[in-house]
Amino acid sequence: MEPENCFQKCISAACAATFDVREVHVGCPRCGDLLDAAYDWSAVSPPRRLADFQARWANRSNALDFSGVWRFRELLNFCPDECKVTLGEGQTLLLPGAGVAAYIGAKPTSVFLQYEGLNPSGSFKDNGMAAAFSHARMVGARRVACASTGNTSASLALYAAHCGLPAIVFIGSGRVAFGKLAQALDYGARTFQIPGDFDACMRRVKEASQRLKLYLMNSLNPFRLEGQKTIMYRVLEGLGWEAPDWVVVPGGNLGNSSAFGKAFMELKELGLLKRLPRLAVINSTGADTLDRLVNRKKLVWNGGRYDRQAIAADWAWQDETHRLPHTVASAIEIARPVNAAKCLRALEVCDGVVRAVDDSAIMDAKAQVSRCGLGCEPASAASVAGARLLVEQGVIDRDARIVCILTGHPLKDPDATVGYHTGDYPPGKEVRGARTFANMPIPVADDIEAICAAIEGGR
Ligand code: F0G
Repeated sequence: MEPENCFQKCISAACAATFDVREVHVGCPRCGDLLDAAYDWSAVSPPRRLADFQARWANRSNALDFSGVWRFRELLNFCPDECKVTLGEGQTLLLPGAGVAAYIGAKPTSVFLQYEGLNPSGSFKDNGMAAAFSHARMVGARRVACASTGNTSASLALYAAHCGLPAIVFIGSGRVAFGKLAQALDYGARTFQIPGDFDACMRRVKEASQRLKLYLMNSLNPFRLEGQKTIMYRVLEGLGWEAPDWVVVPGGNLGNSSAFGKAFMELKELGLLKRLPRLAVINSTGADTLDRLVNRKKLVWNGGRYDRQAIAADWAWQDETHRLPHTVASAIEIARPVNAAKCLRALEVCDGVVRAVDDSAIMDAKAQVSRCGLGCEPASAASVAGARLLVEQGVIDRDARIVCILTGHPLKDPDATVGYHTGDYPPGKEVRGARTFANMPIPVADDIEAICAAIEGGR
C-alpha cells in the first residue's frame, strides 16, 4: 500500500476531522481529542487469511520479514518500506503457563503468557517504537522526545541511538526502576529528571515538544500504537489464528489496551477474525484512575460520544484532593492516562472489564510467573493478579482460554524483586503484605561441613 491510503483521523465522532499522514500532531488540531492512524482498506490488499502471514517466516533474511512488527505490514502500512525502522523487535513468545494457571485458579492448559520482555530493550514498547521511528523518518524528524515511567525512555533511547537521532527523555526523580534508567543513560539519551511524577513529566514534554519542535514518541502518537497492534497478531498466531477468550493486560497510560482494541476492531472490519476476545485491563490500586472512571463513574465510549467532561472533572478532583499515584509497579504509576478515551473504545469493542489489584497481589503474581520459568517486572504481573481476581469473581470462567501479557523483562526492576524476597525494600518502596513466595537467601558459614549440612537440611 502507498502512504496515500493512510491518513490521520480524530477519534471523536462529533469531530472526525482527518489529516494527512505526513503531518505531525499530538492531538486533533481542531478539537484536541486523540488521533488514530486510519486506512482506506479498499485500496489495501491484506492477505485473505491471517495464516498467510506465516509464509514470511521462510524469508527471514529480509529484515522486514524478520521483524515481529513489519511482517504484518499490510495491517499498518503508513509509510514506504525504505522508511521502516527495525531492530528485530517482536521475536516474542506465547507460552503455556500451567503453574500460573494453578495460581490463577484456571484449568492447567488454559493459561498462556505473552512474553514481551524478549524485545530488544526488554519491553513491549519496542513494537511501538519501530513504528513511531518509521513515521519520524518519513517526516524528517530531527529530535525525538518522551516522558516515561522508564520503559518508553529505554526503548526510545535505543531506537534513537540506532537511527542516529538525538533523544530527550523526561522522568520523575526517583520514580524509575534502575534497569530502565541504566538503559536510557547508556544509550545516550539526554535524561531530564524533574521533581514530580509521570503525569508532570507528560505535561512538560508536551509543552517542550511544541515549543522546540521535538517529535513526541509517547503513546499519544498514533503511529506508535500501530506497532503495538502486532502484539495481538502474534498472540493469534501463537493460538493457530484463533482468538483466546480473554486478553488480560496491565493498564498505565493505556496505550497497549487501546492498540489491542484497534487491532481487533480492524480485523473484524476486514473479515479476518470472526470472534473477538474479551479484554481485561488491570490497574494497580495505587494508580486506579481507569478503574474509577469505568466502574464507579460508569464512563463508556458510546460510539465516540463519550463524556469528555467527566475525564476532565476527574483530573480536577485529583488536583483538589492532592491525590498522587503510588505503587510498586512503577511502570503503571500513572494517574492521568492519556489514552483513556481510546481505552474506552477498546473496552466497547472487546466487551471489556477493568479491575485494580494491590501491590502485594502484584508481587506474589510476579513470583509465580518467575517460578513458571519466565519472569516479568512488577507492572506486567498485574495481568496475572488481575486474571486471578477475575476467576475468583467468576467473571472469567476457569475453562476459558486466557492470555496474560507480560509487558516487561524481570531484570528491569531488581530492587523490587530483591525487596520482595528479603523483606529489605529500598526506603520509600516498602510493600505491605504476606510475601507469600519469598525465597530468602540462606546465610551459611564458609565451611564445607556446614554448607553440605545446610544443603541437605533443605531437601
Ligand atoms: N507494563 C510495563 C512494563 C510498562 O512499562 C507500561 C507502561 C505498562 C505496562 C502500561 O502500558 O501505558 O500502554 O497502559 N510504561 C510507560 C513508560 C508508561 O513510560 O514506560 P500502557
